[in-house]
Amino acid sequence: MYKEICSKYEATKDNLIYILHDIQDTHPQHYISDEAVTAISEYLSIPPNHIYGVLTFYTMYSTKPRGKNIIRLCESPPCYIKGSENILRKLKVLLGVDTGETSKDGQFTLELCACLGVCGNAPVMMINDNVYGDLTEEKVVEIIEKVRRGN
Ligand code: FES
Repeated sequence: MYKEICSKYEATKDNLIYILHDIQDTHPQHYISDEAVTAISEYLSIPPNHIYGVLTFYTMYSTKPRGKNIIRLCESPPCYIKGSENILRKLKVLLGVDTGETSKDGQFTLELCACLGVCGNAPVMMINDNVYGDLTEEKVVEIIEKVRRGN
């Protein structure tokens, strides 16, 4: 699978970021495994340490298995002022996880992130590629239920 993904891209170092994205997005647990790093290293002829360096530099990459749905709650000041802390507390209770953890059913991973660029709708979170703004605790309950049902 990893070799197949790599081969979609020209074998130059400049494509490392794109390959990492593709592999992480394709993996059902949204992460980059050691096997994936080995495959990329061979394909691009770059040492695994270099790849791990990139993986640890960018917070969007994970080297640990994650849930089916990745929640990224904005923790930048405009969202914080508008109550992102309450939203975080609610999410933790709803999912039974702490920040950076995956729910027991493997459905959700809860992460924090910097500004998502839609501060006018603070507080804001993303679930996978969808943005949810003007969050309230009630709204969060509805959103999580909807995503759980697969809507
Ligand atoms: S500060 Fe949260 S979206 Fe900009």
